[in-house]
Amino acid sequence: MVLLGFFLRIITLVLSLTLTQLVDGFQSRMLMSNGLALTPQMGWNSWNHFQCNINETLIKQTADAMVSSGLSAKGYKYINIDDCWGELKRDSQGNMVAKASTFPSGIKALSDYVHSKGLKLGIYSDAGTLTCSKTMPGSLGYEEQDAKTFAEWGIDYLKYDNCENKGISPKERYPKMSKALINSGRSIFFSMCEWGQDDPATWAGDIGNSWRTTGDIQDNWNSMTSIADLNDRWASYARPGSWNDPDMLEVGNGGMTKEEYRSHFSIWALAKAPLLIGCDLRSMNKDTFELLSNKEVIAVNQDKLGIQGKKIKKEGDLEVWAGPLSKKRVAVILWNRGSLPANITARWAEIGLDSSATVNARDLWAHSTHSGVKKQLSALVEPHACKMYTLTRSKA
Ligand code: GLA
Repeated sequence: MVLLGFFLRIITLVLSLTLTQLVDGFQSRMLMSNGLALTPQMGWNSWNHFQCNINETLIKQTADAMVSSGLSAKGYKYINIDDCWGELKRDSQGNMVAKASTFPSGIKALSDYVHSKGLKLGIYSDAGTLTCSKTMPGSLGYEEQDAKTFAEWGIDYLKYDNCENKGISPKERYPKMSKALINSGRSIFFSMCEWGQDDPATWAGDIGNSWRTTGDIQDNWNSMTSIADLNDRWASYARPGSWNDPDMLEVGNGGMTKEEYRSHFSIWALAKAPLLIGCDLRSMNKDTFELLSNKEVIAVNQDKLGIQGKKIKKEGDLEVWAGPLSKKRVAVILWNRGSLPANITARWAEIGLDSSATVNARDLWAHSTHSGVKKQLSALVEPHACKMYTLTRSKA
């Protein structure tokens, strides 16, 4: 009898442990519950080019240009207003108000306009008492009220910044807005802009649809490359529903060469980063359009497997970045970060292919296919340039 009781107790313990592990496992894999961001967000944001010089005409013209240029048809759908859209003071009921001098028609009218173009409207607030420009209030302590206001205005996306935060942990401040958005009655994408300070990749998976992993990008090669490296450390945390965000694109803003911008766009695409255009869409030139509209590169970013590609080899300034795609394909970038032309090689074992595999290598920028490639992929790459491929195993 004593022995039976002992065994029963052991069995109960084992069962309860297994159950706990199952629940834990389930929770840590739980998707961001708003069901958005199955692939990284694509669109435009006002900050990188315009900073605080924004108004409703600019936003409308940008929506027009997004459609007339053909970029919306490539998948860019969010038109995101960054900082400086509101009055410094809330109204007598404590509501945020659009700045009368620059957004006289109000945000609801703007969202109606943007929606009429088949696009979505994003807005910006801050998990502190003021936004980073200090020209308007943040949402700390007003999370529910502001989320309701945004929902009433027809907002589809919130970028939520980290200034004037009173030293309160982001692990307290960000979940409040996440919950408020979910309870707002509207489906609103939650883009956390906490600059990677408290390693959000490790705790924000079921709070945000994306989280910044770094400080602000600048429109130059050093900033772009160092941000790519910082973001790369968190690759294993990205997944459908919630993505690492190395900040918005600078393509088209003039501070880098065409090849540098090609590298920027290619690496962001492979890293499953948000593709948020940061230039003036109304006056973009042919080169900028060619880079931003490459549907083969965009397809790598939007691949439904949703695994972030990463740096898999570095020999001095010569790097190989790669990651798996759906249908057992592999995306590869050969990136020359040095100042002389050089040959770069990716060997099959390094990028997750069997050494016996024969592949078709689609060059995503030249739009040409090399068939029957065995063992490795090699190319001569110009300084600060990259080559980007999708490798598909041949049937034979
Ligand atoms: C912070 C953010 C930027 C931008 C500005 C606006 O610096 O990281 O992306 O939103 O604030 O003031």
